[in-house]
Amino acid sequence: MIRPILRYGETALHTKAARVEKFDDELRKLLRDMAETMYTAPGVGLAAPQIGVPLRVFVIDISVGKRAGELIEMVNPEFVTCEGIQLEEEGCLSIPGFEATVVRPLRAVVHGFDRDGSEKTVEGTGLLARALQHEMDHLDGSLFVDRLRGIKRDVILRKVQKLRRTGQW
Ligand code: NI
Repeated sequence: MIRPILRYGETALHTKAARVEKFDDELRKLLRDMAETMYTAPGVGLAAPQIGVPLRVFVIDISVGKRAGELIEMVNPEFVTCEGIQLEEEGCLSIPGFEATVVRPLRAVVHGFDRDGSEKTVEGTGLLARALQHEMDHLDGSLFVDRLRGIKRDVILRKVQKLRRTGQW
């Protein structure tokens, strides 16, 4: 089931998400819905708070469904390693129409659990490292604009506030 994606300003996006306690059918349904919603958007990643579910769950597919077996599902993830620096343009399904250059790690290793509660580790460089940190940020109530400084951040947020005020958001 495709779920509506929340946009910047909605409380769930700015709130730290809770750990998943039960690896049950409800979690598996959530993961299915998240993948479907991400592919339909389309996007390379989606975190549960973006559909209003305050749990530490995300999905990533940097091929956006073009290559089989690239879907990553992560539950209760933690960083093992974050190293190096990359600077690339980045956007977010919850801040549609806006992009900015964001500092991200060049390589990231994340440990967590799959849909059945088995441990798993994902290692990524480049776009995958970027996506991993972007989705991890969502679980802590943080969006890419929160990593921007000064005028770049102000310009985007002022435009978003204006869209919100005029009911176009
Ligand atoms: Ni995002």
